[in-house]
Amino acid sequence: MDTLTASLAPPNPEKLQGLVERMLGDLGAAMAVPLVRIGDELGLYTAMDGAGAVTPAELARSTGANERLLREWLSAHAAAGYLDYDTATGRFTMTPEQAMVFARPDSPACMLGAFEIAMANVLDQPQVARAFRQGDGRGAGYGTRCACLFSGIARFFRPGYSAHLLEEWLPALDGVEERLRRGARVADLGCGHGATVIMMAEAFPASHFTGIDYHAASIACAREAAGRAGVAGNTAFEVAGATDFAQRDYDLVACFDALHDMGDPVGVATRIHGALRPDGTFMMVEPKAGNRLEENLNPVGRLYYSASTMICTPVSLDQPGAAALGAQAGPARLEAVLREAGFSQVRVAAETPFNIVMEARP
Ligand SMILES: C[S@@+](CC[C@H](N)C(=O)[O-])C[C@H]1O[C@@H](n2cnc3c(N)ncnc32)[C@H](O)[C@@H]1O
Repeated sequence: MDTLTASLAPPNPEKLQGLVERMLGDLGAAMAVPLVRIGDELGLYTAMDGAGAVTPAELARSTGANERLLREWLSAHAAAGYLDYDTATGRFTMTPEQAMVFARPDSPACMLGAFEIAMANVLDQPQVARAFRQGDGRGAGYGTRCACLFSGIARFFRPGYSAHLLEEWLPALDGVEERLRRGARVADLGCGHGATVIMMAEAFPASHFTGIDYHAASIACAREAAGRAGVAGNTAFEVAGATDFAQRDYDLVACFDALHDMGDPVGVATRIHGALRPDGTFMMVEPKAGNRLEENLNPVGRLYYSASTMICTPVSLDQPGAAALGAQAGPARLEAVLREAGFSQVRVAAETPFNIVMEARP
């Protein structure tokens, strides 16, 4: 049967049933987004972590939240498998695994940032829909987005960076770790709230790190966080576009999950090429993807394509260049960007289930 005939055939009841059942699960997850935000915002997860089995009344006492609303919230969590329920006692428990996902910001499995991004995507839906209607797809740049998008991004990516950046990604780059130990000049382009700048600055006190981002509110957060972390002395932060930053002669320029958001990735990579010392390194961290759509039709690709539809692609379309690489560009396309920018040596230096790390040398 060709695809047109197949699309005009009457619906297959079993396939329809299967799809509707899947939708039940998906809609349940979508409806949970504001509930998780409430648990996060009100400290409900933190209160349950290690508290043992609690009743709604006990949780109300320890958090000051309304008991009746808590009962409903706890029931929804039990139905989702986000908390456990003991039918014999009527008590709810947070298991250590659930705590790692919902209650512990430093755990590598923490998902609170992803729920914050999901919430931001719902809140920002009207301007993205407007961009869909515009011929040029403009109007939904980062400047128009709600604040929880930026804090969500910072929280979502940080556990991955703390698990991999110092232990795996920097050591995978040729000679970079040694240089950082001795004292190097580093720029982090599109640094957002500065998590990676701070991690590297703490680990390599002899080096100096400049975080650059065109989103002024993010740079203000990054500066404050660096102060709190005690690395103000070997960090600096600059509000600038990725092609407009002032300095040169960097030993390392890094770009964490940011290049594909930019309107002119080749222009930015060309600027980076010109800002590196002749023996310098560009480390580009991008979402993991295969080169073809069919390689990305899996849960990670699902998450990234959705985020890319709501964030990365409209954000890039709103910038000069409007390249719109998307979050699933894949290594071949990313390598082509780097080669076009003049990098002669390009390789994939490391990979995780969520990220690809590319090393480019002039
Ligand atoms: C997905 S966020 C990643 C932030 C941070 N690197 C991280 O991994 O948590 C992308 C960042 O790139 C910044 N950005 C996007 N386009 C930019 C441009 N043309 N110039 C400078 N920064 C840009 C955004 O403001 C945002 O903070």
